[in-house]
Amino acid sequence: MNTVELFENERATGYNQFVETWIPNYTYFLERLPKLLSETKGSDLLVVGCGTGNEIEKFVKAPKRWNLTGVDPSPDMIKQASEKLQTYDNVTLREGLVSDLPTDKKYDAATLLLVLHFLDDNGNKLNLLKDIADRLVSGAPFVLLDITGDRNQIKQNLQVLRLLLPDGLEQEQVSSRLNRIEKELHAVSEERLSALCQEAGFEPPLRFFQSSIYMGWLTRKK
Ligand SMILES: C[S@@+](CC[C@H](N)C(=O)[O-])C[C@H]1O[C@@H](n2cnc3c(N)ncnc32)[C@H](O)[C@@H]1O
Repeated sequence: MNTVELFENERATGYNQFVETWIPNYTYFLERLPKLLSETKGSDLLVVGCGTGNEIEKFVKAPKRWNLTGVDPSPDMIKQASEKLQTYDNVTLREGLVSDLPTDKKYDAATLLLVLHFLDDNGNKLNLLKDIADRLVSGAPFVLLDITGDRNQIKQNLQVLRLLLPDGLEQEQVSSRLNRIEKELHAVSEERLSALCQEAGFEPPLRFFQSSIYMGWLTRKK
């Protein structure tokens, strides 16, 4: 069993606008994601922490036809994803955790965007990564987007993030959000992220993307 960061009510309904504001280049990252995975052997993709369905929405519009399974423990997020994606017959959405999925069904690729930094590093990050690895075929690509860095790196990159935010935000809100990221979220260093991935059964991950505190990683199931 894994811990859960629930996204409910306004946190769920205001989610898309929130990420657009707070994650510079998030749209770029999402749009390129299907290209990044386009050479995957097989087409069964597991989208972990699919939220409002942002990743899935890009994959259903890609040239390759994917069979998509989205899993998320927050009912208010899954509800939005269902409404947005109800017309696609190649999308299955499941409210719950990866550990609720059977292990005899193996996926050809997986994504985990903006989830891991909500889980502590006292076993919960590792458990989630292991739960994902257990459901992938050998060699399956796995893409992560997460707040990454040691304490000093996060501190400096938060100042960069502050400069990159759109104009017109309330300064008090900005300070409180930056403070929450620094003090309350569970970012780990690049080295630690790599060690966690390897312990969970993945190859050493490659950092292929960075936008201030957010890093994109690509690895494969061993
Ligand atoms: C910041 S949102 C990211 C949503 C989506 N991946 C995106 O990029 O738009 C984080 C999501 O992770 C989900 N979540 C929280 N704990 C989780 C867990 N243990 N396993 C999988 N998803 C989890 C939340 O319900 C929420 O929808």
